[in-house]
Amino acid sequence: MMGVEILGTGSAVPEGRVTNADLEKIMDTSDEWIVQRTGIRERCISDPGKGETTVSLSTEALENALESAGISGAELDMVILGSVTGEMRCPATACRIAANVGAKNAGAFDILAACSGWLYGLNVATGMITTGQYKTIAVIGCDLMSRIIDYENRGVSILFGDAGGAVILRATDDRTKGSIASCMYADGSKWDNLYLPETTSDYPACADLSIARPGTLQMNGREVYKFAVGTFSKVIAQTLERGGVSADDVDMFICHQSNARMLESARDRFGVPEEKFYMNIDRHGNCSSGSVPLCLDQLVRAGRCKKGDLVLFVAFGGGLTWAANLWRL
Ligand code: UT7
Repeated sequence: MMGVEILGTGSAVPEGRVTNADLEKIMDTSDEWIVQRTGIRERCISDPGKGETTVSLSTEALENALESAGISGAELDMVILGSVTGEMRCPATACRIAANVGAKNAGAFDILAACSGWLYGLNVATGMITTGQYKTIAVIGCDLMSRIIDYENRGVSILFGDAGGAVILRATDDRTKGSIASCMYADGSKWDNLYLPETTSDYPACADLSIARPGTLQMNGREVYKFAVGTFSKVIAQTLERGGVSADDVDMFICHQSNARMLESARDRFGVPEEKFYMNIDRHGNCSSGSVPLCLDQLVRAGRCKKGDLVLFVAFGGGLTWAANLWRL
């Protein structure tokens, strides 16, 4: 079995910003309501007119990661993208990203696990490397949530932003590096709490089709909130136990930025000091699959995560899916 090193990280966010004050102008909401319920103050939103797409943002994030790793795209053996806002069903968006960075010797595929997409990708890629079959893999998480948001739905639209993040994983003989304990789960019986219908026939039987908006994200916020609060704590406790460590041993908790209240409740439950439980939701909102790798890249570039640190990645999302990885950098 090989160890796995994160050789480089990168991220990309669109230049455009939408503040709570901007949202107040287009819907019946308030900065106070949004901050109190979610902790979000602004989010980065892409502009299709400037050619900002999931491919362009993912490519930028991956180029930054390759640069920080000091390698070229030609050295990649595989490119994996977690996203629910890929360009089209065929080809996989990862194929076009791979071509953009000159990854001529690599396979490429997409993973559909909503906000857990990047973490699913990390876990899958780690398995591919530890068995010795692949040496260098790029794992990207990128979502342009603004493309699938109905801005007339105030309960959903205030939450989401656009972002991409990437890591370059490489096999190493140092087995202390990489995954110590990981998990991936899904409960498809709760799919209709968070879904993206393509046509009216995708809606659950109980839905009011007179107000259906296919192509936009549908969410039962209360149910997702209840599910997530319980799941966050459960998956953190389980992963720490499997890894044989306590919350105190972890240098940084790097969690999906879903809602500040949810994150604070998990942080308090495990008695983690604020500086060891990263949050950027105030500036970025919930960026789905881009969320966790964006956090990691910001932490690495700020010098708050360094080689040898023990970090815990956690995410949950549509599916419903959830995943974690206790990782030695
Ligand atoms: O990555 C995973 C993705 N999803 C999540 O993590 C979402 C999890 N859920 C949540 O974060 C919360 O459920 C929300 C922030 C989305 C909503 O907060 P809530 O406390 O669950 O509010 P609610 O949906 O129960 O609505 C409470 C009230 C309602 O008014 P009435 O019926 O009490 O008069 C809503 O119509 O708040 C109203 N409301 C709003 N008011 C102002 C809903 N959205 C807004 C809004 N501004 N944007």
